[in-house]
Amino acid sequence: MKENINVSLKGLPGFVPLEEIIALSRLSLRHLEAINSRTGAGNDFLGWVSLPEEMHLQTDQIMKIARHIRNVSDTTVVVGIGGSYLGARAVIEALSHSFPLLSASKNHQILYAGHNLCEDYLSELLEVLDHRNYSIVVISKSGTTTEPAIAFRLLKDHLEAKYGKSVAADRIIAITDSTKGALRSLSELNGYETFSIPDDIGGRYSVLTPVGLLPIAIAGIDIKAIMEGAISIAALTRDNKNHENNPALLYAAARNLILQTGRSIEIMVNYHSKFHYLSEWWKQLYGESEGKDGKGLFPASVDLTTDLHSMGQYIQEGQRIMFETVVSVKSSEKKVIIPLEKEDSDQLNFLAGKRISEVNANAETGTFLAHTDGKVPVIAISVPKIDEFYLGQLIYFFEIACAISGYILDVNPFDQPGVEAYKKNMFALLNKPGYEEAGKKLRERLK
Ligand code: PA5
Repeated sequence: MKENINVSLKGLPGFVPLEEIIALSRLSLRHLEAINSRTGAGNDFLGWVSLPEEMHLQTDQIMKIARHIRNVSDTTVVVGIGGSYLGARAVIEALSHSFPLLSASKNHQILYAGHNLCEDYLSELLEVLDHRNYSIVVISKSGTTTEPAIAFRLLKDHLEAKYGKSVAADRIIAITDSTKGALRSLSELNGYETFSIPDDIGGRYSVLTPVGLLPIAIAGIDIKAIMEGAISIAALTRDNKNHENNPALLYAAARNLILQTGRSIEIMVNYHSKFHYLSEWWKQLYGESEGKDGKGLFPASVDLTTDLHSMGQYIQEGQRIMFETVVSVKSSEKKVIIPLEKEDSDQLNFLAGKRISEVNANAETGTFLAHTDGKVPVIAISVPKIDEFYLGQLIYFFEIACAISGYILDVNPFDQPGVEAYKKNMFALLNKPGYEEAGKKLRERLK
């Protein structure tokens, strides 16, 4: 049996008593029960709970389409934003070469679009695609989100101009609502291959659907192993008999109790550069799920040791308003030994012969001690290694812990009403039909 990811509360005594964490995790069993029986707030968006067991019905079809895309092209542009993009990127970046475009292994390249409105980015992407043999996976549940819709317009035109309409149609896969929305109608009109996003799964809980799994499979990653990881942690985290050994209950309880000590910022920390996008995905999951009704921890992130030379100063000695959740990887995939230098000009010969990971592990322990001394509580989530299985565990673990945590806070973790505010203003300022009056008012305010 494989080891599971593990939540350690060793960095919390002195900040929050362990008995309180255990007591709140026991009390939170009712929230877990509400998730399992799909009776809590936002219960029409709890379809993700049983995805690990259900997705095997679709993995073969996802892998078949991924094979087709890998056969006809060497690059795929994944078009999407928020929950329709971050999960796939988190897994792909964690499991891919750090220099995908330059490495000798020439794996299928994944590029991203539709996650910003940056004109230079899109222009340069199209420039690069002039010379690539590419396909597109366009992902939007609503089918109307502005950023991906604009990017898809541009990319579809580019692809059709490059290969002609019918070849382009064979290279476009759409992942969207099963019946409605602009992307669904366009796909039907043009005969694109499609996958559906179930009605009862919101964007940020959709990594383990085709939304995440198709781009991940196109990148050459084993999606069945991801689902095995998710299945294994689902069994543990949905278990409502043993709260003391349920990592999701412990994490949800601990972070809420730390919030009650006045620390309102949770910093996701990694010591592995491949986890940068895991933190980006986590920020979206927790920020959109909990930041409402004037409540919630502000999710932030740092990449260490890089940011010890920037944010490290603030974390050590700035306002005491934060705590850290460290995703700690036990073993490194590759081996690099520090060389001996005759002159020892940098006086680092005491490290000669050691692995970089040994130095990194000591930087991690040293930082843990320094930050807890500096009154920054630390929750540690240890991961045996970075592979498909443990990425599957991490995703499901963070999702179910987020749902429990949202219920502890007494918010609906599955809606995002606040996201509409900027969209309304943007449409009004751009004179979208129907928004003329609102536009006038906003322009008055800006005078
Ligand atoms: O979590 C969410 O629901 C959001 O982040 C959405 O995924 C994001 O806004 C993209 O929406 P859509 O898939 O409808 O284009």
